[in-house]
Parts: sequence; C-alpha cells; structure tokens
Amino acid sequence: MRLGVNIDHVATIREARGTRYPDPIEAALLAESAGADGITAHIRIDRRHIKERDIRILKEVVKTYLNVEASLDSEIQSFLRDVKPHWVCLVPEREQEITTEGGLNLPKVVEEVEKVTDKLKCSGIMVTFFIEPEKKMVEMASKLGACAVELNTGKWSENPCAENYKKIEEAVQVGIAIGLEVHAGHGLNLQNVGAIAEIEEISELNIGHAIIARAIIVGMESAVAEMKERMLLL
Ligand code: PXP
Repeated sequence: MRLGVNIDHVATIREARGTRYPDPIEAALLAESAGADGITAHIRIDRRHIKERDIRILKEVVKTYLNVEASLDSEIQSFLRDVKPHWVCLVPEREQEITTEGGLNLPKVVEEVEKVTDKLKCSGIMVTFFIEPEKKMVEMASKLGACAVELNTGKWSENPCAENYKKIEEAVQVGIAIGLEVHAGHGLNLQNVGAIAEIEEISELNIGHAIIARAIIVGMESAVAEMKERMLLL
C-alpha cells in the first residue's frame, strides 16, 4: 500500500503571510526522503494554497509520482494537460468550502467528467475520481473511464461506525472486481489509519492534514532550538 503525502497545508501557512516559506516543494522532497511513495497537491479554483508554479516545479522535482487533485474547471484542466502530472484526481469543489466535502456526484456530471477524463488520458495522464464508497459510484467511475477511484474516508473518519466501514470495504471489493485500482483518503490520522490500512486491496492512501499538523508538533523543539542558537550567535 502506497502513501501519498498531500502537502497543501505547507502552502496554506506560506500564503497566510505571503512569504516564500515554508516551501511545499521542500516539504515534498523531505516527505519523499522519509518514505512517501507519492506527492499529492490540490490546485483550487481560488488558488488559496497551491499555485501553478508549485505544480510545475513539483512535476520537475518529485522523484516518486505527482497526483494533482482538481475540479472540472476548464482553466485548471487545460493547465494540467500542459504540465502532465502522473495522476489527476477529479474532485468536486464548492466555493468557500474548508476542505473537499464529499465525492463527485457522478450522475450529475456525467458528460463533463467523461470529456475531462478523455482529454486527460489522451495527454498521457492517469485519472482517478474521488467518490463516495458506494457500489453505483464505483461502477459508474469505471464506465466513465477512470483508471482508479479514490474512496472518500471522510464520512467514516467523522463517524467511525461499523456501517460506514462496511461501505468502504464493499466499495473496495467492487472496484477490484471490475479491475480498478482503489485508493482512499480524507480525514485519516494516526488514530484511525490502521483500520483502513487493514483493507489490503487498497493500493494507495492520500493523507494531508494529519501529517502536516503532526510535522508542526514533532518539529517544534528543533525549530525553537535553531532560533535560540542564532540569537546567541548575534
Ligand atoms: N483526498 C482528497 C481527494 C482530498 O481532497 C484530500 C484533501 O485535500 C485528501 C485526500 C487528504 O485529506 P486530509 O487532508 O484530510 O488528509
């Protein structure tokens, strides 16, 4: 099972002050050195964290693979066809949402998704759809040309009941049976990741917020010590 590390929130901190740091590129390279199997970034319509420049540089420097989450927005889609990340994960996007709120409602966006998927695949990009763990969504994703599905674990992470877990397990089996690669993500953290990682047919987990949040905590002592050392040198 691969771990895709989502580095968006490094850019969130950068944008909070309009500085050049922390640099999501540097974070991606460190994540790779630490064992990340892939790097994920979400380019949003409002460009609130990751920008075009980040994606272009990531594509150049990432040694593993780059997975870009994006909506169906035509400007972003044409940018992605130009940059050619290894994977594009199609996600729904609502203006002012705090984070992705759910999977694509495929029946509502059939034509758009089919067109966008086709164009991405013609540009040599693998396409995955972020969907709810439901049989009909997985089957529809396959019909619309997805190479993989990313199952939304967000609802289960908010309400980790047996029923929500079963939905994920069943959707994984449906995906595997029809020949899709199955990924999962959203809301995973140190406490709950084990249960999802037990589903061995899942080939990739994408995790962002919990890793960046944890990096701040585990890195705090060194960051303060570094600053003290500089102050004493003055
Ligand atoms: N997968 C998708 C499709 C997402 O939109 C996100 C959030 O950007 C993630 C995974 C990662 O979620 P989290 O930040 O909660 O780990």
